[in-house]
Amino acid sequence: MLSNSQDRPESVLRIQGKATLSGHVPISGAKNSTLAIMAGALLCSGSSRIRNVPAIVDVQKMIDILRAVGVKVTADRGALDIDAKNISQSHVPYDLVSQMRASFFVIGPLLARMGVARVPLPGGCAIGTRPVDLHVKGLQALGADVIIDQGIIQAYCRQSRLQGAKIYLDFPSVGATETLMMAATLAEGETVIENCAQEPEVVDLANFCRAMGAKIRGAGTKTIVIDGVPRLHSTDFGIIPDRIEAATFMVAAAITRSTITISPVIPDHLTAAIAKLEEIGAKVVQESSSRLRIEGKEKYRHTHIETLPYPGFPTDMQAQFMALLTLSEGNSTVKETVFENRLQHVAELCRMGANIKLQGNIAVINGVSSLSGAPVMATDLRASAALVLAGLAAEGETQMQGLHHLDRGYDQLETKLRNLGAKLYRQPLVSE
Ligand code: UD1
Repeated sequence: MLSNSQDRPESVLRIQGKATLSGHVPISGAKNSTLAIMAGALLCSGSSRIRNVPAIVDVQKMIDILRAVGVKVTADRGALDIDAKNISQSHVPYDLVSQMRASFFVIGPLLARMGVARVPLPGGCAIGTRPVDLHVKGLQALGADVIIDQGIIQAYCRQSRLQGAKIYLDFPSVGATETLMMAATLAEGETVIENCAQEPEVVDLANFCRAMGAKIRGAGTKTIVIDGVPRLHSTDFGIIPDRIEAATFMVAAAITRSTITISPVIPDHLTAAIAKLEEIGAKVVQESSSRLRIEGKEKYRHTHIETLPYPGFPTDMQAQFMALLTLSEGNSTVKETVFENRLQHVAELCRMGANIKLQGNIAVINGVSSLSGAPVMATDLRASAALVLAGLAAEGETQMQGLHHLDRGYDQLETKLRNLGAKLYRQPLVSE
């Protein structure tokens, strides 16, 4: 069973500070790969088996979306069987899409398979306006008419199939690259997408599509070329390890001055995180091709971080690293350039004693010698992870609310931390 916190009463996570961690953490399959690949399974006129799927609420939501369009999905011990032979609906219900932005990514495969797709404008984390104009412009270039009416994007193929096209993305959007790459796999002729996102999850999706018979080259570079094929066949595919979860545990070791190992990981996907950890003084040792050891130190230096599209420093690791920098010496800066509203954790970290000043999209962090446990509110997925990390390092107890954010994207974070020796547990929230 996949975890789903929606039915549970609201809880608070109590985190005991001054934790020392030791041991090994198994890293789950990548959330962002899984969600895109689940959407990609709609392209297949047969059934797909996806392995190494993380047990998180977002996956459950994507299962609900696939089922809503008539696809059969069976979940079994970390694997999903998705039978998309018959898609009965081209319309995705609003209540499902509004909860998770990645659900919008079904628009490309649905349109390519059905010739029509009606998908409400997406929701997701409150980290900015997050428009979908690049998805829409790309689908139009591929031969779709797109109408936005009452919050619903309606896309129709002008011909019997989408048509290959040259597409330039104004920004290397992960979602737009994925939507358009998926749509183009079943288009007639060649599609060239320029200024693509190069994230490992885009490559994973391309590999999944290729395993179904799609002709894609260049994934992982700035130009992806797709030769459309009439149909895609069944496959069995394993998801890559989650680099964001891995980096979160790397920071957990660093911030608690502990030594832990993590695997499986693909170290190349963690280059930016490793570089920043080493720059401030933590030690990262590659024990094997898929295993890292992280050795925390007593003191860290300051650094400057700017979030950028891959291979730059990931926006999804920004909040966790900021938690660590609050306890590093001197003045650090964190500049968020990918999303316009992704610094809401600053106020919560300050409640715990951090000294951070916001100057537009730049957080200026004056390192302090200690944080103190406090009641805090998680504002988005990665912010919630950052607050857990800060809580593990702080003096005393931190009580975090807003746990639905955490459950969206971390597979058993608390259990994994408890196995390392951390003391944290959930309690029903009692309102006064
Ligand atoms: C994906 C990831 C998310 C990560 C983000 C950036 C998934 C499920 N989510 O989100 O965890 O933080 O990449 O690495 O894979 N934009 C536009 N127009 C568009 C599309 C995007 O202006 O049509 C803007 C967004 O508002 C944002 C920026 O581009 O400012 C990056 O967004 P994008 O790369 O598309 O992120 P997502 O695919 O939503």
